Amino acid sequence: MKNITILGSTGSIGTTTLEVIRRYPDKFRVVGLTAGRNIELFQRQIREFRPLVVAVADDTEAGKLRENTGFSEILSGPEGIKDVAAYPGADFVLSAISGSAGLLPTLSAIREGKTVGLANKETLVMAGPLVNEAIAEYGARLIPVDSEHSAIFQCMHGYNSSDIRRLILTASGGPFHGRKTDDLREIKPEEALNHPTWQMGKKITIDSATLMNKGLEVIEAHYLFGLHHMTLMLLSIHKALCTHLWSSWMERLLLICHILI
Ligand SMILES: NC(=O)c1ccc[n+]([C@@H]2O[C@H](COP(=O)([O-])OP(=O)(O)OC[C@H]3O[C@@H](n4cnc5c(N)ncnc54)[C@H](OP(=O)(O)O)[C@@H]3O)[C@@H](O)[C@H]2O)c1
Repeated sequence: MKNITILGSTGSIGTTTLEVIRRYPDKFRVVGLTAGRNIELFQRQIREFRPLVVAVADDTEAGKLRENTGFSEILSGPEGIKDVAAYPGADFVLSAISGSAGLLPTLSAIREGKTVGLANKETLVMAGPLVNEAIAEYGARLIPVDSEHSAIFQCMHGYNSSDIRRLILTASGGPFHGRKTDDLREIKPEEALNHPTWQMGKKITIDSATLMNKGLEVIEAHYLFGLHHMTLMLLSIHKALCTHLWSSWMERLLLICHILI
């Protein structure tokens, strides 16, 4: 039985993870959950998965949740979310809060020596050296959840970073692929949020539309795998998206990872 805490359980990554847990009740137990503002969904998750501890971003929402669920272990604010991340009894903490709010709870789990599944790429982009120092100091483990990085992680089994000559991250091009610069001046947020391939949270969808997401992924890969940026710089727009990553190795092996179709 794996004991799991999900930071950001009401988001795209969080709800998908809970779907998997729902299917395998004999393999996974939910220890902790955290949410931001989607209290209605969070309430349903608390009732269904009966975690030991939960936290919400806002103090007043915590009071309402206590009344509505009769559940007492409800913490709140950034400190409460950090406490859920560090809560004893969870072997695995999924870091799936979006944006900068994910950093401190992720560090909190790392400082408890936990295995952390990292979806929140902003954590490494903002504080890669700090996170890597904490992993070494507290004996924690970081497992990438971002699909490209998960693909690299799986390909690297049995290899070192120094074996890699080049990594090619692919991108679908997003909703604006093929559009002329002049067409982009009048773009509305709704168009940027309409990703042709993936259903994701709003921030990452916007970052994908502007290709900022690929920049964040290069930095993330640099800190995760100790790869020089030049090794990672190549980017190929691959609209069919049957791969997420190509890697070329010193021994002239070409691995095409994460085949989706
Ligand atoms: N979605 C994907 O396919 C995907 C793929 C690769 C990487 N990622 C990365 O994974 C992370 C999560 O992405 P997502 O798409 O799942 O995002 P999302 O759907 O927007 O979900 C974000 C989660 O974080 C919570 N949250 C947001 N701000 C918060 C705050 N200030 N305090 C506490 N909780 C807060 C949200 O709570 P409420 O909803 O309750 O407000 C929600 O549970 C991001 O860093 C993203 O870059 C996502």
